[in-house]
Amino acid sequence: MSGTEGKVVVITGASSGIGEATAVLLAERGAKVVLGARGSDRLKSLAERIAGAGGEAAYTVTDVKQREDLSNLVKLACERYGKLDVLVNNAGVAPISRLDELRVEDWEEMIDVNLKGVLYGIAAALPVFRRQGFGHFVNILSTAGIQIMPTMGVYAGTKNAVRTITESLRQEAGDKLRVTSVSPGFVRTNLAESMTNPEVKSQIIDQRNRMAISPDAIARAIVFAIEQPADVDVNEIVIRPTAQV
Ligand SMILES: NC(=O)c1ccc[n+]([C@@H]2O[C@H](COP(=O)([O-])OP(=O)(O)OC[C@H]3O[C@@H](n4cnc5c(N)ncnc54)[C@H](OP(=O)(O)O)[C@@H]3O)[C@@H](O)[C@H]2O)c1
Repeated sequence: MSGTEGKVVVITGASSGIGEATAVLLAERGAKVVLGARGSDRLKSLAERIAGAGGEAAYTVTDVKQREDLSNLVKLACERYGKLDVLVNNAGVAPISRLDELRVEDWEEMIDVNLKGVLYGIAAALPVFRRQGFGHFVNILSTAGIQIMPTMGVYAGTKNAVRTITESLRQEAGDKLRVTSVSPGFVRTNLAESMTNPEVKSQIIDQRNRMAISPDAIARAIVFAIEQPADVDVNEIVIRPTAQV
């Protein structure tokens, strides 16, 4: 099957930013989207907005730090729509800082959400994909993992751990499953809200205000990977603002 029409797509971190834009675009293109994030109000209003525009959306409150929540999210897709075509592992946080600050709880949060959360997603969806004989992982990484910068070490480390796991998953996937990583540069989202160091946060917000691109740009890349024919595996996409060095 190619295109997006009728595909069932689970999206983590769907309540804002890239996840939200991806849900809206996929629903416009006829996909059935299954939304997960912690914020129930935002999920509910997004699902209503999609349904109001004639799309199909389900949601359940999901904390990707909880393995069971990912299982339930995947289960919701399978029970409601009878299959799962795509899992977009998008949920992420970025409480970045210099290592000297020893913000160990922030390091743990990034590892738990950005790395373990993706693994829990893989654990939930991979058996379903194997059983079905089709399925597509889309993992959201970052250009922070390509151009390493001060303050971003742990964040980039989590993204590059997922980069490595994604490549291994691609090689293990066989000829039926597809595996894509998307590495965005600066995108205009709420990601800075997860930053705990006020100075770093305000620098990032300044940079974001100067050069960030719309989350729609990332959504279009995700849709491009999903809509390809089943034998076409788009593996890596990097998208930066033109202004980003
Ligand atoms: N914005 C950028 O410049 C940029 C650049 C490169 C990569 N990225 C990556 O893009 C992805 C999406 O981020 P964004 O920029 O769209 O930021 P965002 O607007 O802050 O969205 C992050 C999403 O993740 C969810 N989330 C956070 N912790 C979660 C948890 N424990 N369980 C479930 N959901 C959780 C948030 O919802 P709740 O708070 O409701 O749970 C929200 O929906 C992240 O992986 C980020 O690292 C962003």
